[in-house]
Amino acid sequence: MYYIGVDLGTSAVKLVMMDENGAIVKIASREYPLFFPNPGWSEQNPEDWWSGVCEGMKELLTGVDAAQVAGISFGGQMHGLVVLDGNDAVIRPAILWNDGRTQEETDYLNDVIGKDKLSAYTANIAFAGFTAPKILWLAKHEPENFAKICKIMLPKDYIAYRMTGVHCTDYSDASGMLLLDVEHKRWSEEMIRICGIRREMLPDLYESYDKVGFVKKEIADAWGLSDHVVVAAGAGDNAAAAVGTGTIGDGACNLSLGTSGTIFISSNKFGVDSFNGLHSFAHADGSYHLMGCMLSAASCNKWWMEDILGTDDFGGEQAKIGELGKNHVYFLPYLMGERSPLNDTSARGTFTGLTMDSTRADMTQAVLEGVAYALRDSYEVAKSLGVKIERTMICGGGAKSPLWRTMIANIFGIPVDMPACEEGPGYGGAILAAVACGQFASVAEACGKLIKVVHTDYPDPELTARYEARYQTFHKIYPALKGVFKDMGF
Ligand code: XUL
Repeated sequence: MYYIGVDLGTSAVKLVMMDENGAIVKIASREYPLFFPNPGWSEQNPEDWWSGVCEGMKELLTGVDAAQVAGISFGGQMHGLVVLDGNDAVIRPAILWNDGRTQEETDYLNDVIGKDKLSAYTANIAFAGFTAPKILWLAKHEPENFAKICKIMLPKDYIAYRMTGVHCTDYSDASGMLLLDVEHKRWSEEMIRICGIRREMLPDLYESYDKVGFVKKEIADAWGLSDHVVVAAGAGDNAAAAVGTGTIGDGACNLSLGTSGTIFISSNKFGVDSFNGLHSFAHADGSYHLMGCMLSAASCNKWWMEDILGTDDFGGEQAKIGELGKNHVYFLPYLMGERSPLNDTSARGTFTGLTMDSTRADMTQAVLEGVAYALRDSYEVAKSLGVKIERTMICGGGAKSPLWRTMIANIFGIPVDMPACEEGPGYGGAILAAVACGQFASVAEACGKLIKVVHTDYPDPELTARYEARYQTFHKIYPALKGVFKDMGF
């Protein structure tokens, strides 16, 4: 049997086909545009996602025995606001997870409604990228669009809807809306009231490995699938990536270096810290997790390489980097503002510490190190909560760089494990589909059987000490510039 995981990312959709033994059969992907209509805004057209899925499916299913496909599920970019009218037509472009237009609404939620109440209702406080502030923004700035809303959906759930006709979501992705009572896994009546919406606008809730329906006949026919292919709810991309890297059980950790950068800490019990420093969300295996999310991770490196240096030879540029732990150039990776742990949409990227002898390679190195230092900020929050992390899995495009993995192992001071399959969210989506089809009794059983570590980067005590000193310097740069970023008035 084959299972397909749909990784609905920010730059592309990737379709990952896995067999029942966890072997990758085929992968297909399609890119789609990302729009920045104003500084700090970020939007996509849901129709572009759907076209990408349809074209990708046709490629994926060509030359394989499509009758073997038993199930499909998802790992989707989180928090995006997709709004549908009474005919289920998309009202306006989706406002994405890395969109920073909602500072005013975020401040209103945190300061006027109050963090204590938000945390009691949802286990989280407001961040600009979360869905609830976007709903408030729409009500204020586009009342005519707000008045048309009949359904509020997340990106991957829109794709599940197009496949099945069912309005559904899962607990892990719903956690990032600031509308879910995460502990009790039900919509928060208080947040529904605060956002001025109605319960029936929200989709039905499922566990990530639950079947929500079947691929509709006309779609199955168009793609060449049989008419009883199961669609499972799927998960937010980070929870799906955690499944795809076997990050299950208490204290298991996964770092993702994609467009965003995340630290994901799995937990068997619901938990929330008194400062809400990390997101407290449901996990795709039925349990919970804590997560820190930086808005620009591998995307900083892509920006530096492609837009600034004008090259796509990432490996060649990294090969010019000298000895690690001695760089005097620092980079703040806040190209889209920052979520965890700063919660500051005005934060911006900078190079600091440049001298006449600074080189292109020093700056490339600073970009890679800056992302790792910023991710460590969230790791520090986790440690301050008493969470013990002994090692971590790693995934995402950035994880393919051996140099970046070495930096991370030494900046965090823990071993970093690479799984055999690098397709985090897509592989996780395929595993969730396999569980929904009964191939495995649980997500934990599937991960136990399928996930293998193929390589570990161990920290070197001397390099870890050098990086520790540099991290302490990095840590002073944002507080010194915070006021300047505000004055810049983005
Ligand atoms: C997580 C987050 C990002 C997106 C990226 O909170 O906002 O990781 O899910 O796709």
